[in-house]
Amino acid sequence: MNTLLIYDSQYGNTERIATAIADTLRTVGDVRAVRVGEAQPLDLTGVDLLVLGSPTQGWNATKAMQELLKGFSPEQLRGRAVACFDTRFQMSHWLTGSAARRIASVFERMGIELAEPPESFFVEHTEGPLCTGELARAAVWARLLFDRIETPRHAIAH
Ligand SMILES: Cc1cc2nc3c(=O)[nH]c(=O)nc-3n(C[C@H](O)[C@H](O)[C@H](O)COP(=O)(O)O)c2cc1C
Repeated sequence: MNTLLIYDSQYGNTERIATAIADTLRTVGDVRAVRVGEAQPLDLTGVDLLVLGSPTQGWNATKAMQELLKGFSPEQLRGRAVACFDTRFQMSHWLTGSAARRIASVFERMGIELAEPPESFFVEHTEGPLCTGELARAAVWARLLFDRIETPRHAIAH
């Protein structure tokens, strides 16, 4: 499985989560993990799984990630698995907002179904650190993503 993981990170916490996800997916295929600024021009040739990750800032993804999202077209994404995650404070998303949910809603508006629901990983404070156990949880989420994508739909329908 060929994965492209594009992330943004102001203080390094989302980057650490991205690295944990990339390291896990690397055990089952090729992974290219790039910062959002390095993702242009956007080339999805050969990409089976696209993962986007952003810190939650002002209830949304970062400005750079929002700009990147504007560049995707449904045609470009069709036939590829897509997933997204964020980092944010550990409270209900009703109180904190969620970058991943905002990214997911952009894909939903394009008619793109996500491989897994948007996921959040938590920081203790604005600059971090990550809450205990979040790197391990990121590795589990990555494995779940892989299983979801590699397991044919009919095999999990019942
Ligand atoms: C300008 C700014 C706005 C933020 N807004 C939110 C927010 O709306 N909800 C939230 O849960 N966290 C918010 N945070 C905290 C960030 O989510 C936290 O800094 C981020 O998860 C750290 O990830 P990073 O180290 O990759 O930048 C904000 C942080 C900054 C700097």
